[in-house]
Amino acid sequence: MRVGDKTFRTIWQASDAASVKIIDQTRLPHEFETVSINTVFEAAHAIKVMQVRGAPLIGVMAAYGLALAMRADASDANLDAACGVLAAARPTAVNLQWAIDSMRGLLLTLPPAERAPAGFAHAGAIAEQDAVLCRAIGEHGLRLIQAVAASKQGRRVNILTHCNAGWLATVDWGTATAPIYMAHDEGIALHVWVDETRPRNQGASLTAWELGQHGVPHTLIVDNAGGHLMQHGEVDLVIVGTDRTTAVGDVCNKIGTYLKALAAHDNGVPFYVAAPSPSIDFSIEDGIAEVPIETRSPREVTHISGLGADGRMETVCIAPAGSGALNYAFDVTPARFVTGLITERGVIAATREALAKTFPERIGKRS
Ligand code: MRU
Repeated sequence: MRVGDKTFRTIWQASDAASVKIIDQTRLPHEFETVSINTVFEAAHAIKVMQVRGAPLIGVMAAYGLALAMRADASDANLDAACGVLAAARPTAVNLQWAIDSMRGLLLTLPPAERAPAGFAHAGAIAEQDAVLCRAIGEHGLRLIQAVAASKQGRRVNILTHCNAGWLATVDWGTATAPIYMAHDEGIALHVWVDETRPRNQGASLTAWELGQHGVPHTLIVDNAGGHLMQHGEVDLVIVGTDRTTAVGDVCNKIGTYLKALAAHDNGVPFYVAAPSPSIDFSIEDGIAEVPIETRSPREVTHISGLGADGRMETVCIAPAGSGALNYAFDVTPARFVTGLITERGVIAATREALAKTFPERIGKRS
């Protein structure tokens, strides 16, 4: 997608064919920097500190991390150790485990001498597949936006999104944003309400930035404003992403998604979830009981970072010294509040039946 007058993906194999390049998302929106990832440990670190984040991109980073591990030592023992290091990086997005399972399954069938080149090729294929899935989600979601636009007869379509399920969270296109980019490129008058998404502000720093780079009209709002806007008819539909959707359609996504779904339900606003199949965990059903929810540092709640008046990045404390803070990174929206799942195979109901009919080969499986 666009960065200034150039096009970028979020991750790519470097020209030395021995390392991987990423956009360092901890520097956005104020600095655009790319970073080289040379080892599995650097890959796990990039996931942990959120230089790369977003469920699909976490999976792709893990896949390349295993390829890098095989370059260093292609033994079974090192493959197992590398899988463990990556799996421990972040617990909630199932794409991480999905990608590890896919890579491990292939690499174990190969003699050690073939593992590094095959690993890079497979990681590249996973990255390419992610872009293909997001584009398909875009095409299916576009029809939803076209239908709303037709009913509004030229008045702008207002879409609310939470966190960043944009191209920065994937390899290209994004999940929730793919239909938005396509509708915008088609000339549909639309506008996006961007939840700031405390505590790490992925909406403010990432979604607003990437929409701006593509020229999509948007307005940043505080996380608590969505309900008010819905009550006043200012939101036509909500589209969010997912870190793990269960076999019955419960949706785990960034903390605060559930409250948006409740507000949407109360106001009759359609609430859609863009869900590529690697983000669907068919091995679990009850999202609230079964999805592991990441708890991050309380410091992300008590402190906030941004650009200071002198143009340098600053971190300031916003809480009294001594006050405790709790930082759950995700929550679960029960399927009954989800109008539909926008998958690469079409827009489907968030139900066990629809999911099983659409992805019969995945029934009961995590990957
Ligand atoms: O903590 P993050 O920034 O990794 O959380 C990202 C989200 O919650 C996204 O909505 C989700 O991963 C879907 S990305 C297409």
